[in-house]
Amino acid sequence: MVYEKTQIVLNQAVADLSKAASIVHQTHWYMRGSGFFYLHPKMDELMDELNETLDIVSERLITIGGAPYSTLKEFDEHSKLVEEVGSYDKSMTERLEKLADVYAYLSDLFQEGLEISDEEGDNPSNGIFSDAQDAVQKTLWMLQAEIGRPSGL
Ligand SMILES: [Fe+2]
Repeated sequence: MVYEKTQIVLNQAVADLSKAASIVHQTHWYMRGSGFFYLHPKMDELMDELNETLDIVSERLITIGGAPYSTLKEFDEHSKLVEEVGSYDKSMTERLEKLADVYAYLSDLFQEGLEISDEEGDNPSNGIFSDAQDAVQKTLWMLQAEIGRPSGL
């Protein structure tokens, strides 16, 4: 395989983007408190964006001969993101902090993807990781701004 290491990091992104979308969905359902009216629909937008990236990453992986994870079990086993059972007793700030951690993790993973795909000369995957990192860093900035902090990048 020409892009062996790139395939591995693309599949890692498949697992993590799937789990990230699940975490955002939980936030959409369980949030309570000030900001609900705009944050609840905002989570739909974030999910759509993650799922769009997931599809692009997954199809690039197939294009270069790989086999994306495609079951909930595989996503859970391979993702490094940690889920918790839903509960209503978290503040909006705690929820956004958790999401900021998720997006910071994705940004780091995409950095790894950028370096590996560059090393293997897989330019299309490199472009995908670059676009994906741009999107998650922008969301990270917005999440941090909502809780009154700098982006942290
Ligand atoms: Fe909904």
